[in-house]
Amino acid sequence: MKKILMVCLGNICRSPLAEGIMLKLIEDHKLLIKVDSAGTANYHVGEHPDKRTIANAAKNGIDLSALVARQFTTEDFEVFDCIYVMDKSNLNNVLALAKTQTQKNKVDLLLNVMEPSQKNEVPDPYFEGEQGFEDVFQMVYKACKTITETN
Ligand code: 4NP
Repeated sequence: MKKILMVCLGNICRSPLAEGIMLKLIEDHKLLIKVDSAGTANYHVGEHPDKRTIANAAKNGIDLSALVARQFTTEDFEVFDCIYVMDKSNLNNVLALAKTQTQKNKVDLLLNVMEPSQKNEVPDPYFEGEQGFEDVFQMVYKACKTITETN
């Protein structure tokens, strides 16, 4: 079974959204994929996703209310086959923890699943309004759909 980890900074906006969308697609299409999410920072460990992320996801049919934030650990390099990060800052933070080339090869920007090497980022919506959360939802949903169609 393929194991995918979604990573952002706080694990309360973008990566739990990616996890929740993947869980819904996995359930709907009965796929054999395991998914989890984590943040590179520890600011929000133990918290549920941001209220604005939960509300926007619910509006789009995805329930994130049961998810709980945790911090990325080096053990994740062993557990997961693919580690998808949301932006270049997350990418640098995760790559800095990798000890081997094999570990580094597991890490990629999430939006590269649609347009490889374009280096497009899922922007941090934390300081944005409702439209920022909706924009993030649409781009993360497209990427997750692409992952489920190619696995
Ligand atoms: P996330 O968003 O990385 O998508 O979960 C953020 C959440 C919290 C903070 C920054 C980004 N923060 O600075 O607390």
